[in-house]
Amino acid sequence: MDYLCRILLLLTATVLLGRMDAQQAKSNVPRLKLSYKEMLESNNLVTFNGLANSSAYHTFLLDEERGRLFVGAKDHILSFDLVDITMNNQLISWPPSSTRRDECKWAGKDLQKECANFIKVLHPYNSTHLYACGTGAFHPVCAYVEVGKRPEDNIFRLESSHMENGRGKSPYDPKLLTASLLIDGELYAGTSADFMGRDFAIFRTLGEHHPIRTEQHDSRWLNDPRFVGVHLIPESDNPEDDKIYLFFRENAIDGEHAGKATHARIGQLCKNDFGGHRSLVNKWTTFLKARLVCSVPGFNGIDTHFDELQDVFLMSSKDPKNPVIYAVFTTSSNIFKGSAVCMYNMADVRRVFLGPYAHRDGPNYQWVPFLGRVPYPRPGTCPSKTFGGFDSTKDLPDDVITFARSHPAMYNPVYPINNRPIIIKTDVDYQFTQLVVDKVEAEDGQYDVMFIGTDIGTVLKVVSIPRGTWHDLEEVLLEEMTVFRQPTVITAMELSTKQVNRQLFILFVLNCNLISHQLAIKNGQLHGETRRQDIRNGDPLTQCSDLQHEDELQGRSVLLDKTVYGVENSSTFLECSPKSQRALTYWQYQRQGEDRKQEIKWDDRVLATDQGLLIRSLQPRDSGIFYCHAVEHGFMQTLLRLTLQVIAADHLDELLHRNNDPTALAPLSSEAPGNSGANPLGSSTNQKVWYRDFLSLLNHPNLNSVDDLCEQVWKRERKQRRQKAHMMQASQQHANKWKMLQENNNKKGRNRRTHEQQRAPRSV
Ligand SMILES: *[C@@H]1O[C@H](CO)[C@@H](O)[C@H](O)[C@H]1NC(C)=O
Ligand SMILES: *[C@@H]1O[C@H](CO)[C@@H](O)[C@H](O)[C@H]1NC(C)=O
Ligand SMILES: *[C@@H]1O[C@H](CO)[C@@H](O)[C@H](O)[C@H]1NC(C)=O
Repeated sequence: MDYLCRILLLLTATVLLGRMDAQQAKSNVPRLKLSYKEMLESNNLVTFNGLANSSAYHTFLLDEERGRLFVGAKDHILSFDLVDITMNNQLISWPPSSTRRDECKWAGKDLQKECANFIKVLHPYNSTHLYACGTGAFHPVCAYVEVGKRPEDNIFRLESSHMENGRGKSPYDPKLLTASLLIDGELYAGTSADFMGRDFAIFRTLGEHHPIRTEQHDSRWLNDPRFVGVHLIPESDNPEDDKIYLFFRENAIDGEHAGKATHARIGQLCKNDFGGHRSLVNKWTTFLKARLVCSVPGFNGIDTHFDELQDVFLMSSKDPKNPVIYAVFTTSSNIFKGSAVCMYNMADVRRVFLGPYAHRDGPNYQWVPFLGRVPYPRPGTCPSKTFGGFDSTKDLPDDVITFARSHPAMYNPVYPINNRPIIIKTDVDYQFTQLVVDKVEAEDGQYDVMFIGTDIGTVLKVVSIPRGTWHDLEEVLLEEMTVFRQPTVITAMELSTKQVNRQLFILFVLNCNLISHQLAIKNGQLHGETRRQDIRNGDPLTQCSDLQHEDELQGRSVLLDKTVYGVENSSTFLECSPKSQRALTYWQYQRQGEDRKQEIKWDDRVLATDQGLLIRSLQPRDSGIFYCHAVEHGFMQTLLRLTLQVIAADHLDELLHRNNDPTALAPLSSEAPGNSGANPLGSSTNQKVWYRDFLSLLNHPNLNSVDDLCEQVWKRERKQRRQKAHMMQASQQHANKWKMLQENNNKKGRNRRTHEQQRAPRSV
């Protein structure tokens, strides 16, 4: 059965146009948290429950003039009435042919999830038609959709007699993001243009000119990009200078960053670029890109970067050349969920594109700002009368083309307004996915109100209020609305402002694997299972507990507190490894009785491994608290707080000596069995017994015996899990068995006790 995807209409008029007094908002934040039920009851939410067979809505087109909302879905294009989405719907069915479906299936693709026509492109084409493209069962296809000139024409029809090749317009794979813009009969699309989903490029197709694209197989131009937006922004009052800006994220170019990292980018192109004459033929000659930075200073001097660009919204201003760019970012980390919204202005973007180009002399060199002579006309400049000189990119001198080909990236990044995000959320279990911004008139002026969609089906309404000056904004979360019954990724939002009621359209996709960061930490996965040295509880079940299972139960990160005992001159292993492959561990040490944490110095005695910290030849001064942190992209999270107690060797001797002396244990052995009925592990005197038992085990010259012990316990535990025995019951059984064992051992006498203990589990 197909998963349901839904379209929701959020009527924001009543809540938005109410009184909004900045002073009031600052002092007394009206933090409304509306549940799904409350949203329904408020009558501000209208839901269209989707077609039974059409999952995955992929595109949205708001047509205010015709009063329609067009939606591209799986094998369908839908048309809704903007006044009431539940009324007067129209539907075009556009599945792939059965031959295409069969071919797709034979190519090894999933019939339901891949071998359909997922509509990825939907734009107004001319006064009577839309242009639509879909994946066409891994064979992209485009067509015109007749919609009529006026709303009353009531036309909604696919021109199925005139299909076009969709390569370079729609991706083959429905999972891939595509961003596109249709302007003056030409389609600009950032997409992948091959079956394998490897040839990513920015294309211009359609229209009378030869298609044009970015340089192929050159990771300096594009490095596995994912496009989120395309916009036209005029550069001057002369349309010849018009530029197309693309927003995407991609892998950082080698050498630009240690390890694998994602960078958010803004790319530019001239609308009147027709490629080079002798080289870069039918390739962009004006393509440039720059990094978009959205970060906050972290402790330890490492900035926390939000690099996973998710969405971009351009807020128009009075001057069409200078819209404000709102961008939504998340972190690349698997263990830290963080989201941010940054704002950029075009002056900063233009300054970066006029700044130094990123340059390196060869693959093994560092990227540096290019300081040599830049050829004229400066690469990235559009052919026009404004900036002078040349009529077409085909007239560009060879040195300009050569330079442009090898210098597509700018050295300086674009920093956000005020150098920091306007909103950050790091302490929550959701992430931002989408954003629309609305200008709202309030009693004391105009405000930009942001609606932020999340991956759990909520919409946050946030307003930025100037704190004195416009350069010092304070975010105020006005409302948090749950617009879906179950947690659902919001994949598209559109704001309709021309209607009488301000309406916020929200498009949902359920189960479409878009974003799902699991917050979980794998603790010390050594040999797949974990030995936990938990002396205090002294139960072999916890002693050998399989922490991975525990993580699964908890489902999220937990700061573990552990105590480990070690004996002077013996070795100990402090296990800790973060779940995220990208994270590094960072250890700190706090000496007993001190407040200060210090970094651990590695040497022959203290070794860092991927699984944890190995300390050889323990010294009494090693006693203290060890903190294991996961560090990733400047985020630091404490995974483990481990108290190490080093037992002095002579003290141990004394303990062992007492252990060998039956009289020394007499009071204990008489007490332990006497506690029958009560949990034998709970009493403090028994703890001592168990403590000693395990101490002797753990410090046994042959550590394998501990592994053997754990192996036995795990086996039993697994068997019991299989039998679906209740956890509590199971541990009670263990406790009883161990209690019996202990009683037996007490009878057998103290001298053999340690050895019996080692073998004991095997006989259970
Ligand atoms: C939905 O799909 C099922 C099976 O694939 C089919 O039998 C049914 O006719 C479809 N319904 C519609 C409305 O297309
Ligand atoms: C719009 O484009 C379609 C497809 O090319 C064409 O058939 C139609 O005549 C055009 N409409 C107008 C008003 O030019
Ligand atoms: C521990 O090792 C050191 C150095 O090898 C040695 O001098 C010391 O005597 C040892 N201590 C005990 C109690 O064995």
